[in-house]
Amino acid sequence: MIAAQRPTIGVFDSGVGGLTVLRALLNRIPGANYLYFGDTARLPYGSKSAATVAHYAVGAVRYLQDQGAELLVIACNTATALALDEIKAAASVEVIGVVEPGAEAAAAASHKKKVVVIGTEATISSHAYQRALEVRKIAVREKACPLFVPLVEEGWVEHPVTEQVARIYLSEAFAGDAGDFNADVLVLGCTHYPLIKPLLRRVAPEHVAIVDSAESTAQEVARLLEDPSSSKNRELVAASMIKFFATDSAEKFRKMGSRFLGLPVEDVVHVDLKE
Ligand code: DGL
Repeated sequence: MIAAQRPTIGVFDSGVGGLTVLRALLNRIPGANYLYFGDTARLPYGSKSAATVAHYAVGAVRYLQDQGAELLVIACNTATALALDEIKAAASVEVIGVVEPGAEAAAAASHKKKVVVIGTEATISSHAYQRALEVRKIAVREKACPLFVPLVEEGWVEHPVTEQVARIYLSEAFAGDAGDFNADVLVLGCTHYPLIKPLLRRVAPEHVAIVDSAESTAQEVARLLEDPSSSKNRELVAASMIKFFATDSAEKFRKMGSRFLGLPVEDVVHVDLKE
C-alpha cells in the first residue's frame, strides 16, 4: 500500500542516465520521497545480455525495496526492455517500466501510425518497443544508436561530432536501405537521449514529434498515485527527500549526476551489491 501523502518512490537505472526520469518525476510529483539507485559499477547495460541485465536489475530493486521503496520505477530502458518480467516477479511492490508509457504516448501522438524508436543495442534487439507499439496498431522502425550514450556522458550534448552522428543515425532510421519510412513520431528510448533532445529536434525531419519516455513515465506514475499535487509546484522539489545509491564512486556520481538531474546531487551512498 502506498502512503497517499508522501510516497517513497524507488528509481532504478544502470547509472546516471535515469536521473532524466527522476527529473521528470520531480516535476510531476514534487511531494514524494525518492530513492535513486544507479548501478554505475556495472554499466553500460545497453551492450549486455538479457540474463546479465536481469540479474543486476533484480539485485538493485531488491535493495531499493529493503530501503523502503513503495513503488519502483525502472528508469533504464534497457532493463525495462530486457528484464521487466523478472523484476516484477522479484518485487513485492508495483513496478513501472519506461517502455509501455513511451509506447502509449507515441501511439497517441502519431497520426500516420508510423513511429521510429531509438535506443541502445540491447533495447532495440529486444524489440520491446516494437511489440508494445504493434499491439497499438503502429508500424515501427527501430534504430540502435550505441554512440549516443558515451557522447552524452562525455558532455558533448551540443557538439558537431554528436550532430554528425545523429544525422547518420536518423537518416538511416527515417530513410534507410528499406526506403522512406514516413514516420511522424520519434521515441527517445534511452535515459540519455533527453539531454540531446534539442540537437535531435534540429536533425529529425521537421514534421516529426519527439516523445520522451522519461516524461511519459512520470505522467504514468503521477496518474497511478493520483496525486492531486502532481502539478508544477517547483518549490516542493526542495521538500522532496532524495537519496542516491551508486555502486561505483559516490563522488563521480555526484559530479556527473547533477548534469543529468539539473539540480545538485548530494547525499550519495556507495553500495556494494553482492554478485
Ligand atoms: N540506461 C540505459 C538505457 O536507458 C543507457 C545506459 C546503459 O547502456 O547502461 O537504456
